[in-house]
Amino acid sequence: LRLFLDTAEEAAWRAWLPSGLFHGVTTNPTLLAAARKPCSVGEIELLASAAFGLGAQELQAQSWGRTAKALYTNGRALAAIDDRVVVKVPITREGAEAAARLIAEGVGVTMTAVYAAHQGLSAAALGARYVAPYLGRMNDAGRDGFAEIVAMAELMRAAGGATRILVASLRAADDLVRLARAGVDTFTFGPKVAEALFADPLTAAAAEAFEKAAEGG
Ligand code: E4P
Repeated sequence: LRLFLDTAEEAAWRAWLPSGLFHGVTTNPTLLAAARKPCSVGEIELLASAAFGLGAQELQAQSWGRTAKALYTNGRALAAIDDRVVVKVPITREGAEAAARLIAEGVGVTMTAVYAAHQGLSAAALGARYVAPYLGRMNDAGRDGFAEIVAMAELMRAAGGATRILVASLRAADDLVRLARAGVDTFTFGPKVAEALFADPLTAAAAEAFEKAAEGG
């Protein structure tokens, strides 16, 4: 099982990375904007230093640009920050062209903005380290995100290869349970879902009872 914390908020990293629950962190331009941080190599270099200092084994940062050349150039600059930086690239034709060059140079790449099982095939053919389907946004669009990701997992198992499905756009702990039961083992989610992975009223009541007993209550 491999979990990632999906945020660019360093306070959330400080709160969660020492827990040992997460393999690393994932970011993208939207999350950087939400954290009021510029999408730049310099900013991501600072984020990488903070994340690795807090125990992250990988920082996944998204490249940007409208052309394959721009996506490659920015991705190359992100990869040069640290070997533990994985470059995220949208699964467009331009993204695939940039990813192919980065992967050929030994850079770890995540193909992102994935909404359909067949895109998992493309990511695996490219030799991507991860392919990131957006469960919640698939469902928002009226698709059966769960079925699409299970189909992707089936095709990836049949095709072989090392590309891992990294499910994003997760909004409830039950999303992870259902997908993990179907054999999916890599997920990225924000602090709210991280909290939900521990939340249970009976657990809270039992913990309170332990505290009272320990205090002689
Ligand atoms: C994907 O990379 C995004 O960071 C995130 O997973 C999207 O989640 P949302 O659809 O709940 O906004």
